[in-house]
Amino acid sequence: MSELLTTDALTKRFGGLTAVDGVSLTVRKGEVLGLLGPNGSGKTTLMNLISGALKPSEGRLLIAGSDLTGARPDRIAKAGVARTFQLVRILPSLTLRENVMVPAAFGPDRLWGAPLEARVTECLETVGLAARAGQAASELAYIDQKRLELARALAAGPRLLLLDEWLAGLNPTELHEGIGLIRRLEETGLTIIMVEHIMDAVRALCPRCAVMNSGKLIADGPTDAVLSDPHVVAAYLGEEDA
Ligand SMILES: Nc1ncnc2c1ncn2[C@@H]1O[C@H](COP(=O)(O)OP(=O)(O)OP(=O)(O)O)[C@@H](O)[C@H]1O
Ligand SMILES: [Mg+2]
Repeated sequence: MSELLTTDALTKRFGGLTAVDGVSLTVRKGEVLGLLGPNGSGKTTLMNLISGALKPSEGRLLIAGSDLTGARPDRIAKAGVARTFQLVRILPSLTLRENVMVPAAFGPDRLWGAPLEARVTECLETVGLAARAGQAASELAYIDQKRLELARALAAGPRLLLLDEWLAGLNPTELHEGIGLIRRLEETGLTIIMVEHIMDAVRALCPRCAVMNSGKLIADGPTDAVLSDPHVVAAYLGEEDA
């Protein structure tokens, strides 16, 4: 079975607003899926449903064939889902090493001793922060805070990684490095869903894209075809009757 994630008519309502409206999506092991859509179209809410931060109003969530609809975030983490946040969440008063230690020790793998040390070192090395392991996270520049947050997600040992605009706010050099880093993660066999507005990054990293508009999935397919789809172009231009 190669399907790692299936959402079946997944729906989230906030009062009268349907932020995610009947989204059915399947992601296979090893895929890198770009999740696109204009501001407020429901991308982050969908990520929150997949990670368990929010419970769906309707629909089902399956991870590696297990029905995890309505499951708590820790159970979904145990099934192998980890994420970064659109607004970076790190622990500023702790060192980089301690920041990464928390999800490795208290996350799904509950590592301790030498395996914990090895996981922390590996994750900091992956994101290029190993040399600064003892530094306080509060001293980090923005790009390095993003790297650290990615290391924290990786420390949980995920098989599905959710990146919510992880590349946003980087300068061109940093963006180039960030794309290289995500590509290396892909090469390890990790499955990735990335919410992204930077089209060069989407084209470079995502063979497939799904597009949301007003909570609904309006396109899903090969990136080139999706990005030239008139409905997608119209959604980005804000036309309502596309
Ligand atoms: N906790 C919440 N309570 C009420 N409304 C919410 C909540 N979270 C999101 N929304 C609303 O749901 C809609 C979708 O928001 P969401 O953050 O998922 O969009 P997005 O596609 O991630 O947008 P952006 O590109 O700006 O990050 C918006 O109208 C937003 O205001
Ligand atoms: Mg968002």
